[in-house]
Amino acid sequence: MRILFLTHSFNSLAQRLFVDLTEAGHEISIEFDIADSVAVEAVALYRPDIILAPFLKRAIPEVVWRDKPCLVVHPGIIGDRGPSALDWAIQRGESAWGATVLQANEVMDGGNIWAAETFPVSLEKKSSLYRNQVTEAASKAVAAALARYLDGKFQPCPSEKWPDVRGKDHPLMRQADRKINWESDDTRTVLRKIHAADGFPGVRDELFGAPCFLFDAHADPEMAGRPGALLGWRGHGAVRATRDGAVRIGHVRRPDGEHTFKLPASVAFASELESLPLLDDAGADGIRYEEAESVGYLYFDFYNGAMSTEQCQRILAAYRQACARPTRVIALMGGEDFWSNGIHLNMIEAADSPADESMRNIRAMDDLAEAILRTTSHLTIAALAANAGAGGAFLALAADQVWVRPGIVLNPHYKNMGNLYGSEFWTYTLPRRVGAEQAVSITQNRLPLGGAQALRMGIADACFGVDAASFRSEARKRASALAALPGYGERLAAKTETRRCDEAIKPLAQYRDHELAEMQRNFYGFDPSYHYARYQFVHKTPHAWTPRHLCRHRDIMQKQVQ
Ligand code: COA
Repeated sequence: MRILFLTHSFNSLAQRLFVDLTEAGHEISIEFDIADSVAVEAVALYRPDIILAPFLKRAIPEVVWRDKPCLVVHPGIIGDRGPSALDWAIQRGESAWGATVLQANEVMDGGNIWAAETFPVSLEKKSSLYRNQVTEAASKAVAAALARYLDGKFQPCPSEKWPDVRGKDHPLMRQADRKINWESDDTRTVLRKIHAADGFPGVRDELFGAPCFLFDAHADPEMAGRPGALLGWRGHGAVRATRDGAVRIGHVRRPDGEHTFKLPASVAFASELESLPLLDDAGADGIRYEEAESVGYLYFDFYNGAMSTEQCQRILAAYRQACARPTRVIALMGGEDFWSNGIHLNMIEAADSPADESMRNIRAMDDLAEAILRTTSHLTIAALAANAGAGGAFLALAADQVWVRPGIVLNPHYKNMGNLYGSEFWTYTLPRRVGAEQAVSITQNRLPLGGAQALRMGIADACFGVDAASFRSEARKRASALAALPGYGERLAAKTETRRCDEAIKPLAQYRDHELAEMQRNFYGFDPSYHYARYQFVHKTPHAWTPRHLCRHRDIMQKQVQ
């Protein structure tokens, strides 16, 4: 089918559905929901068989849904309605939730149901629930809905007619509903409130007497104090007492601060650093190392997958320690929600000189990538249970083996960030995996790739597992098997020899110098595109148009004009 995506942005769910449906043989074009007239024009140009709305913030114009079937993905169970579906589910402490595909009509989220899926919920952040469980459920529900639509026999029906309907209509959640009462709320309640607002909009509160929105909360079981009191800094987070313990608040957004975007709490409140004690930060920096059966597992779980200069340096130190261990394999495991999204654009935006900080950050990423590429003591694996983008995707390619989960989305390209050239040795690692021609098309096309596609193209070496947990457990089995391989020694020797030959043909230093020279131009040159794009990204400026590489129906228009 020809499917038009009408979506607020090309977010992770829209990207996952794009990957799924392209794999299933459908043709997709994308239009951002900017104005009714733009949506109407897109439908007229593309003439889709069906319209899919993976992520919408407004109702679809009536002229569109009356003319074409429009399937809307709602992140809630059957019968649930309203713009704060996940927020209410988390704050109420639901133990099961779902994703529903319904047909647009005059009632927002009130149309006939085509398909729905449910999943268990524990105490997760909204952003995490959306990127994992909701995305998996939506992927299955959309596949079922499209199969039913194609079959032609299924009659979608109103939610009341479905069995065991629990969902209800809920209003927009307001800050008054989210308010934390530090005197009376226990740790679980505080976590629930901050998790229900994670990603966006955060919980409005105060720290050090200044208004701010709270994100990225963790229980801090070692601490306790007068409810509401600030107890210290642990890593980048401020530890604050609840009624029965404490929470660590990792990120905040200060609406009246010098920087009005989300930052680590200790960066946003840098001038208050002295006023609280520094607590032991072991385990609070997202980096964790463990060993089993001659494999060293290095986890780096950073908020939003963004890797600042300091975080890169810390992983590098941990990686060097891992290399010094008497193990045989090192597995780079990334984080829960992302494997990595490359340099930390918010930290760069907040720096006195964003250009200098960009350079420092990319050098730190390159140092890490280079250490992985030059490792001759171990076989290395990048095990991607979660998505990776830009420099984060290329960091993975520095490992000997890249293992991916089928449901992840990779964005191995940089150009979306103001035409960045990119580094992390991609000019070495990508062509050697996929060939020069394909490397050009992957980086120029700027489209997301799924796990299976990455495997077919040679970007990945193995693709397995269903959810993140099954992927990680299978990855551990495979890593142990690799370490126990009878031919392990020969394999390590062959890898070392390949590196030696490659180095003789073109030293890694040359790749690095070339890429950094290009990046230098991006950061300091006369073309400000990168600085402009980073500003828009960090400040979340709404899209004014759909990027041309996504809306193929605009090509149709261009051809008609020619
Ligand atoms: N630095 C800082 N924050 C980043 C980031 C980065 N490199 N990459 C993602 N984020 C943040 C987003 O701002 C967003 O923040 P929020 O919590 O306030 O909503 C969050 O991570 C999730 O990103 P989002 O874009 O909503 O996720 P997605 O899964 O829909 O898209 C990407 C993933 C990777 C395609 C997209 O985030 C992206 O393009 N990131 C920038 C990558 C990049 O250019 N890195 C620099 C060059 S190496």
